[in-house]
Amino acid sequence: MFQSIERVPGDAILGLIQQFKDDPNPNKVDLGVGVYRDEHGNTPILRAVKQAEKQLIDTEQTKAYIGSHGDPQYGDYILKTVFGADHKVLAADRASATQSPGGTGALRLAADFIASQLPGHSIWLSDPTWPNHLGVFGAAGLDIQRYPYVDAHNQLDFDGMLAALKKIPEGDVVLLHACCHNPTGFDLNHDQWQQVLAVVQERGLLPLVDFAYQGFGDGLDEDAYGVRLLADNLDEMLVTQSCSKNFGLYRERIGCFIAVAADTEQKDNVRSQLAITARENYSNPPAHGSAIVSTIMSSAELTALWHQELDEMRNRINGLRRKFVDGLKPHGLDQQFAYVAEQRGMFSYTGLTKAQVEKLREDYSIYMVASGRANVAGLNDDNIDYVCKAIADVVG
Ligand code: LMR
Repeated sequence: MFQSIERVPGDAILGLIQQFKDDPNPNKVDLGVGVYRDEHGNTPILRAVKQAEKQLIDTEQTKAYIGSHGDPQYGDYILKTVFGADHKVLAADRASATQSPGGTGALRLAADFIASQLPGHSIWLSDPTWPNHLGVFGAAGLDIQRYPYVDAHNQLDFDGMLAALKKIPEGDVVLLHACCHNPTGFDLNHDQWQQVLAVVQERGLLPLVDFAYQGFGDGLDEDAYGVRLLADNLDEMLVTQSCSKNFGLYRERIGCFIAVAADTEQKDNVRSQLAITARENYSNPPAHGSAIVSTIMSSAELTALWHQELDEMRNRINGLRRKFVDGLKPHGLDQQFAYVAEQRGMFSYTGLTKAQVEKLREDYSIYMVASGRANVAGLNDDNIDYVCKAIADVVG
């Protein structure tokens, strides 16, 4: 029966991990998959996480199932982190949190929820977007449409985006990146978020906000501006959240799917559907990640340490953005790449072509995604001049 099964290429981003490992060049540089790296190229376990894990070894009482919505304490902490502790949707009990296996698991819950409960509605994704958005929403059988996000000069195309949003049919779902847009690094400013809100209201759209990088752009609260603005003004919205990046819990698979409804009863109806969706997908989410996050957030001391470590990661990335542009000065390319310093989060859409990305890999063992997306966190003092020189070479 399996003779007719075709081999398909693996995921392009995850494939880079192996390619990089296999490369014997001692000067190789990994600017591929979106994991944070420190000055030595490592992805360390946060000190707050280590301390929480030590506590858990002694205090954890059971490994029994935690239920389809996961740990309620974790859900409460995430709602407060996303919306702010005093937000009106929390006071009115209008928001439901379902713990998920990573941000991707939250996206799949969103996809299945839209497919089963909002049939006939398309989902609109920025062009470009994280490639796996296409995979996850496609696998759930949703009709996928695109709105422009970047122009021919590799700048944010806000006018194009807004014009496209104005034509989306009523009730369709529009996916917005809360901050640290993946893959481009171009974020909306406050005024632009307000314009998006106006169109969402005018057209009666349902926003699904992908919030995978809270704290990696400008700060935990600053990065939540768009999400909170929408929640201030809309009856209904969806949010997918992840602790992969801001807690460095990539392999623990810990995220959250949030649904905001007009009132508590509707929220509870939606919530009942999500319990079924989770049950049919994976039954119960894994518990270790939520136990770590809850342990950190229930301790003032560990929360302060986590905030400090998150600040360190963010400041390092933003510092690297400036160093990168400075490093291109001797090659006369600092003006051309000036926007890299303004982008936010781990990623930069460099504007390099597929052929230039290939040349970087073949001639210099510098790895980035074929779209020209670079993970800025992969730069450090030892490799930044090498990378700048190599880019100058491939740009010609
Ligand atoms: C990325 O975009 O590199 C990360 O979100 C990791 C992934 O799963 O693709």
